[in-house]
Amino acid sequence: MNIVNVDYDGLIPNNVGLGTDERVKRALERWHPGYIDWWNDMGPDGFQSSLVYLRTAVSVDPKGWAKFDYVKMPDYRWGILLAPQQEGRKIAFGAHKGEAAWQEIPGEYRAMLRRLIVIQGDTEPASVEQQRYLGKTAPSLYDMRNLFQVNVEEGRHLWAMVYLLQKYFGTDGREEAEALLQRRSGDPDTPRMLGAFNEKTPDWLSFFMFTYFTDRDGKMQLEALAQSGFDPLSRTCRFMLTEEAHHMFVGETGVTRVVQRTCEAMKEAGISDPYDVAKVRKLGVIDLPTIQKKANLHFSLTLDLFGNEISTNAANAFHAGLKGRFREERLQDDHQLEGGTYPVLRLKDGKIEKEESPALSALNMRLRDDYVVDCNLGVSRWNKVIEQNGIDFRIKLPHVAFHRHIGEFSRTNADVDGNVLSPAEWTQRRTDFLPSAEDKDYIESLMQPQWEAGKFAGWIAPPKVGIDNKPGEFEYVKIA
Ligand SMILES: [Fe+2]
Ligand SMILES: [Fe+2]
Repeated sequence: MNIVNVDYDGLIPNNVGLGTDERVKRALERWHPGYIDWWNDMGPDGFQSSLVYLRTAVSVDPKGWAKFDYVKMPDYRWGILLAPQQEGRKIAFGAHKGEAAWQEIPGEYRAMLRRLIVIQGDTEPASVEQQRYLGKTAPSLYDMRNLFQVNVEEGRHLWAMVYLLQKYFGTDGREEAEALLQRRSGDPDTPRMLGAFNEKTPDWLSFFMFTYFTDRDGKMQLEALAQSGFDPLSRTCRFMLTEEAHHMFVGETGVTRVVQRTCEAMKEAGISDPYDVAKVRKLGVIDLPTIQKKANLHFSLTLDLFGNEISTNAANAFHAGLKGRFREERLQDDHQLEGGTYPVLRLKDGKIEKEESPALSALNMRLRDDYVVDCNLGVSRWNKVIEQNGIDFRIKLPHVAFHRHIGEFSRTNADVDGNVLSPAEWTQRRTDFLPSAEDKDYIESLMQPQWEAGKFAGWIAPPKVGIDNKPGEFEYVKIA
């Protein structure tokens, strides 16, 4: 078997030797019709017979792993792709540091590992469900194609997790794989497992913010799981990260293009005050303060995905060698964290204070800190665009205590600078920080489809380069 090239002969493309693994092959083939039903019910609304210019993985070689072609989404070849096995790979952290990575699951960690895989797996179809109506209001065929690319790849990420469940977890794995198709984002009775994945993605600015902030949480989680001592999970996550990079590109450049269009329109109209919202909106673009509010919303919702700052589960998963830290191999410490402390923000007598906590318990906080650093890189690129246009405004990530529903700060109301507000103050000032009904209505009014090849809605600038280096007028989606 060639693990770099993908076998496309059977129903399920793969590089895991499914052809000679009758049991797992049959289990996945049995799961397949339910997946297609789910895609038809909960995947993109409409466009299922349109030809979309999509990339499909044909190899897991980092150089040239994908090929581009027109595909109808239901015909997309969702496959099971693991990054190549590293000869002699060792566990890099925790109690088993230095031991050979596991090819089978150690019995004592089975339940913990299953939970990690199910939680990751649940986010993948959830985001497809959240984004299902966006095609109808796509600001261009280029953007529509990017949306659908993200959607089919999140579908593939579900396949990736379901493969692990079916291959390594027997009956309960099969039941979990079924349940992943049953839960629905936002459903009051059978919601998705994590809060941010039950929120709505009602408009394209939300979509770009979601792919920027929430897919980036995905990246951090995958980076931590890519460190896993359970080698098949590590290899799965390493390949998923290759795809994930495009999702964050869509988010980062999407917001950049919105910001750019707003700044250009303001300049053309001679408006220098970014807070003159009424005037800016007359131009049919999204004012910078509203973009800031959207960033506040998506950033704060995503921070909740990192869980409690102090967490026994996170400590156990690290100790067991199942989930590492961001870029574990580059860190200079003992990789076991039995001693050692880490600074954690706590709420003490109504004030936010830093407190040294045992490093092992503070791993969620640490991953969240790494995430915030990563988020700021793109934000500074958005600000460069604003600066280049000579506008006196800077987008800023809110304080981590702002608008939280999980962890230390869920018990308080903080403003975007981390000042604790009384409940009355919070209610009064809420729409200074978060989109108001009026803001949402305005954005919604802009969501008019622009489906002519090479054209873009008036509130967003065209991209600098096309996908797969295609020229500006390229027809990324042939709508049928
Ligand atoms: Fe994903
Ligand atoms: Fe993603």
